[in-house]
Amino acid sequence: MNILFMGPPGAGKGTQAAEIVKELGIPHISTGDAFRLAIKQGTPVGLKAKSFIDQGLLVPDDVTIGIVEERLQQSDCEKGFLLDGFPRTLSQAEALNEILARLNTSLDHVINLNVDRGLLMARLTGRRICNVCGASYHLIFNPPKQDGICDVDGGELYQRPDDNEQSVGKRLDEYDNKTAPLLAFYENMGLLRQVNGENEINVVSSEIVSLLRG
Ligand code: AP5
Repeated sequence: MNILFMGPPGAGKGTQAAEIVKELGIPHISTGDAFRLAIKQGTPVGLKAKSFIDQGLLVPDDVTIGIVEERLQQSDCEKGFLLDGFPRTLSQAEALNEILARLNTSLDHVINLNVDRGLLMARLTGRRICNVCGASYHLIFNPPKQDGICDVDGGELYQRPDDNEQSVGKRLDEYDNKTAPLLAFYENMGLLRQVNGENEINVVSSEIVSLLRG
């Protein structure tokens, strides 16, 4: 099953993806995670991406498309994949269709998580991430059992550098201007399914699972 999660920054794409890939046994492909790893490793892609990410701007399409194309060619994607955070522009969406056609496959589901803009700022500025497994928490909406410590592996929780008010504001503007128009693209392909991302995390997960089971 080839799945795409869409939604603005903070809609819960990463949180839900972690649950769904466990359930379906498919890889989770997050361009945001790929860039953060490249930055940590100091690769040429990481060096290019860093200044865009820090400012809350999208990384240029040529860099982003190359990463995804390479990842989708790996053998673990043959049984399906979940894309999170890609595509974010019309060129990326068109490139994705071409890549998948070359691989003799296509998207099965596009799930859009709807969350009111007012809530997104609170979700992102209160988000904390485990420095070992990458699990995502929230100081108020989804707190760990012990302050600052991951429930899963005891890792330390940190705040992403782009989760400050200024970068989040820019990310939301980038989403409105460049990514939201893609919803019509996938609607026209007959793939788009809407989910209310404002419900509790487990309610959102159940709704997604039932949509995927059709
Ligand atoms: P990326 O890492 O993809 O960030 P994003 O899209 O801004 O999305 P987030 O990870 O911030 O949000 P999310 O929807 O996953 O929310 P989460 O589940 O964590 O991209 C980062 C940057 O990389 C971009 O700005 C760009 O520069 C670059 N980039 C990436 N992809 C690119 C591309 N294709 N093209 C160009 N550039 C690209 O949840 C958020 C918080 O809310 C958490 O604290 C969570 O606990 C909480 N929460 C989640 N669900 C709920 C719920 N139902 N109720 C209450 N709280 C909830």
